[in-house]
Amino acid sequence: MKKSRIAIGLFLLVVSQLNAQMWSLSQNERDSINRLGQKNHEAMKGRLGITALRPGPSGDESAPNHANYDETMADPCPHLPEILITAGGKKVKDAETWWEKRRPEIVEDFEREVYGRLPGHIPEVSWTVAVTDHEFVRRTPVIAKQLVGHVDNGSYPEIDVDINALLVVPTNVKGPVPVLIMFGRPAFPAPAQPPQEDIEKLNASFKALMIEKDPSLKTIFDRYPAYHPIVRLPPPNFFAPLPEGDLPSTEQLLAAGWGYLTLDPSSIQADHSAGLGSGIIGLVNQGRAREPEDWGALRAWAWGAARALDYLETDPLVDAKKVGIEGVSRYGKAALVTLAFEDRFAIGLIGSSGKGGTTLHRRVFGEAVENLTGSGESHWMAGNYLKYGASEATFGSMDGCDLPVDSHQLIALCAPRPTFVSYGIPEQGDAKWLDQKGSYMATVAAGSAFKLLGAKDLGVSNDYLKETMPPYNTSLLDGQLAWRQHDGGHTDGPNMKHFILWANRMLGYDK
Ligand code: GCU
Repeated sequence: MKKSRIAIGLFLLVVSQLNAQMWSLSQNERDSINRLGQKNHEAMKGRLGITALRPGPSGDESAPNHANYDETMADPCPHLPEILITAGGKKVKDAETWWEKRRPEIVEDFEREVYGRLPGHIPEVSWTVAVTDHEFVRRTPVIAKQLVGHVDNGSYPEIDVDINALLVVPTNVKGPVPVLIMFGRPAFPAPAQPPQEDIEKLNASFKALMIEKDPSLKTIFDRYPAYHPIVRLPPPNFFAPLPEGDLPSTEQLLAAGWGYLTLDPSSIQADHSAGLGSGIIGLVNQGRAREPEDWGALRAWAWGAARALDYLETDPLVDAKKVGIEGVSRYGKAALVTLAFEDRFAIGLIGSSGKGGTTLHRRVFGEAVENLTGSGESHWMAGNYLKYGASEATFGSMDGCDLPVDSHQLIALCAPRPTFVSYGIPEQGDAKWLDQKGSYMATVAAGSAFKLLGAKDLGVSNDYLKETMPPYNTSLLDGQLAWRQHDGGHTDGPNMKHFILWANRMLGYDK
């Protein structure tokens, strides 16, 4: 049982590397996307004077080139870049120096070397509510709105970008409600259906239309006179007992008086290198290749989340001062980048984000910098990030230890806003590849920024080399900086109930 669970977990992790959009494509289409992606990757290497990149290690532990899982080799450069010392060597002792001097220095390094900069002129997004539906999600009445954020493409009509999102808000609470923006696939949770009399009208007209199109169908309908092609789904049963275990995260949120907004990342920017010539990145670049400091997909997704927040600021059902961001895996990275760079976000739940997320780039354990610099993942990052995987280049060679910043500083950029770092356990499929420990170290280290700003950190020291990871299911949720490793797999679902209680406390919300 256990083994098969692990196998499924690993399978899912590998499979999730092929992003969702790619699934629907034919092999030929996938091949051509991969070829174009490699071409873009090669071109960026050329731009940067890189002739060879170190290959990334394999996630398969039986492969000869498997990733390192030996703790004694995991910290080749254990001393992390300082959070509270300025580039000029001055200690940061007060909030003012943090906001005015140190924080902008860290932002600059992350933008230039890691995630890329937002372009100076990004076209406006205009939001429309395409559909408004009144639904019942189990026992909670909700309003669900399908939202379309159309990006003005007057400057380059060849590329269309329509951000696809769905807002669901409970209507049995006073409101306005807090909302969690979740990277994922928008879908109406429980579309309202017409009553039986209307279904009968639809059936009559539908049958007539079908017979008009193909008169031979009449004999079928005559043979089965009581048969109707459109069937009304059973209505929700309000008295049905709740299923055992946790409800889906979205239902937990609604039951707690929160709304949620599902945001489709691929409608903002495709999840592959070939897509860099389209989506919002391609639109702004008018289809041309990226410059080394241009934004990558993570920053683009974060930008899209901020545009969704623009919409929420206009919706009277929503308390836009209490909007959070959530994501898992690559979208956990995107959630962290969003919280770090977009200061209107009040809170974040960062799920199993791994390398490029909360895990230290410098750590050599599981996924490596060299995986992120490969053609399959480098579109998440700025082009410049490739330098840190270079073995031969005009500038010599560099690795993760050469990065001017690391993920503890990205978490520090979120301070003092509540930041919940979530993981599962490898035994259930939240693979070692993600390096939970490297994330814990970064979270521990980030605490100094939270404390400087008068917030509470994990409640342990900030000595990331000494602190040991607490056992799973231990909640370090007393402060604005929070950590919890649940006993499930590659999801933040099992932490949702803990997140909600903590978030309510942090934001002072009680439905
Ligand atoms: C791969 C990748 C991770 C990423 C994950 C995912 O495992 O190496 O960096 O987080 O896919 O998004 O599913």
